[in-house]
Amino acid sequence: MNGTPNTTSEGSSRNRPIDRIPVRVVVFSGKGGVGKTTVAVNLAYALVGRAVRVGLLDADITGPNVPLMTGIAEAPRTDGEHLLPHERAGLKVVSLASMLPPDAAVIWRGPMRSKALEQLLDETEWGALDVLIVDLPPGTGDEVLTITQRLAPQLAIVVTTPQEVALLDARRAIGFARKLEIPAVAIVENMSGLVCPHCGGAIELFGAGGGKRESARQGIEFLGSIPIDPTTREGGDSGCPIVLAEPDGTVSETFERMALRIEEMITRVMSA
Ligand SMILES: Nc1ncnc2c1ncn2[C@@H]1O[C@H](COP(=O)(O)OP(=O)(O)OP(=O)(O)O)[C@@H](O)[C@H]1O
Ligand SMILES: [Mg+2]
Repeated sequence: MNGTPNTTSEGSSRNRPIDRIPVRVVVFSGKGGVGKTTVAVNLAYALVGRAVRVGLLDADITGPNVPLMTGIAEAPRTDGEHLLPHERAGLKVVSLASMLPPDAAVIWRGPMRSKALEQLLDETEWGALDVLIVDLPPGTGDEVLTITQRLAPQLAIVVTTPQEVALLDARRAIGFARKLEIPAVAIVENMSGLVCPHCGGAIELFGAGGGKRESARQGIEFLGSIPIDPTTREGGDSGCPIVLAEPDGTVSETFERMALRIEEMITRVMSA
């Protein structure tokens, strides 16, 4: 990362539609498969539930899962000049997946992936939004750097699972966010234990508490823990996220508390 330029909203002089969105949030992790998209989608809906106007950009070019998890199957719309987001249950969504045949593999080299992301960023007309959430691919590679620099987010949410091997990568993601001078960084611990359906006892499959300890160590905000929960997984597979499917359940309540904390963090950053 040495020599990496600081975060700047490159291209903002061109007055892109995205520059009118006051708050930009990136969701990332050092490690793949820890639940970034699940967390991004559910936090987005939890914020929609708090009357926040939210857009969700799927920036995972080679593994775009947001349309599946939000139940969007239609091709993208355009006004002839801009790409227009899909809207589902009050959330605006843009993903490259909607533009590709369902099983198509995106075999693009880094510069081409970065270019595609730049286009999604520059050419989407989001309309009036309060917050844009960007679901990033895992790691801190080329396109994560490109999009983070162009977006100049105010908040980075690092998703991790509790075990040391995931925390190790989460530390890199936190370091990346710091290097890019993102003003606020927070951790979500996902897959934090599960309740045995037979005896009701707690099973700490990947351990528990690692995300909280790491946030204390790093002096950053801890947003909360989500357990391993079959209904949460089903919500992702069926395109009806748990926050919509079971709004009164404990997992949804946790996402709602996180959304409140995020709003507070954003308010603090914006007034600093
Ligand atoms: N708390 C949870 N309980 C049960 N299943 C979960 C939970 N969080 C995520 N999952 C499931 O784990 C799988 C991976 O989650 P997800 O796709 O959100 O991870 P990701 O970090 O976005 O992955 P990638 O790095 O590939 O983008 C999905 O099938 C999802 O439904
Ligand atoms: Mg994902």
